[in-house]
Amino acid sequence: MNSLRRLGVFDSGLGGLTVLNEICKNNQGLDVVYFGDTARVPYGSRTPKTITRYARQDMRFLLSEGVDAVVIACGTVSANCLPALKEEFSLPIVGVIDAGCEAALAVSDSKRIGIIGTRATVRSGAYEQRLHQLCPEAFTKGVECPLFVPLIENGFDAQDPITRMTVERYLSAFNAAKVDTIIMGCTHYPFLTEAFQKVLPQVQFINMGKALSHQLREQFCLPDSTAPSKVSYFVSDPDTGFLSIANRYLDAIEANSVQTVNIDRF
Ligand code: DGL
Repeated sequence: MNSLRRLGVFDSGLGGLTVLNEICKNNQGLDVVYFGDTARVPYGSRTPKTITRYARQDMRFLLSEGVDAVVIACGTVSANCLPALKEEFSLPIVGVIDAGCEAALAVSDSKRIGIIGTRATVRSGAYEQRLHQLCPEAFTKGVECPLFVPLIENGFDAQDPITRMTVERYLSAFNAAKVDTIIMGCTHYPFLTEAFQKVLPQVQFINMGKALSHQLREQFCLPDSTAPSKVSYFVSDPDTGFLSIANRYLDAIEANSVQTVNIDRF
């Protein structure tokens, strides 16, 4: 088992913080470098080729910070280019898809599972493919929800009427499908869990970060420490209200300062 001291975590923006929050809640003593590509978010409306180019640069930045493994805390990158990144970089890379699909199958009674995600994620079919590999008889339905990421990045929370209307509109696509579980296939979406739950109260919504944070313990030898994990935050565009949005939502971690990276250099 690889030992893990310095972990890189990246996302197109704020979404990966929902994964980071769970990692820090469940694993102590880690030294984490978080990168949010706030200058180029959203990734989900781009082509797989562009997403892969961005993700390569994000990986190179994290490597320059001396990380020993990377968590791709982004559904869009995990769905569109995880194999390409694994081929190119030799350190361990963990995406969110396996953890999300395994957690959904573990809690679903009917094995009728929905996936909500960005356009690029849903069009990739990656979650559905993995669900069918793990459970060939599963019924799956993916729904593209391109407006959620811009809402979250701009500070619209689960209580905002515009958020609620958008959630109702997208989730109505599940009315006839009778799913009992929906994977929040984009790491931004746990910010809106309360709004999702209000519209579909009988459905279980899967937070992929939660499942992934436990998976890390099985995959890596983690520090034997009770000290809280410590995080250094980096973004590619400083004017996004990153710190205030992060601190408003997250309970296991605090973001005190954030550094800016010129991602074009990588
Ligand atoms: N958090 C990213 C994901 O999990 C958001 C994608 C985007 O930037 O559109 O898919």
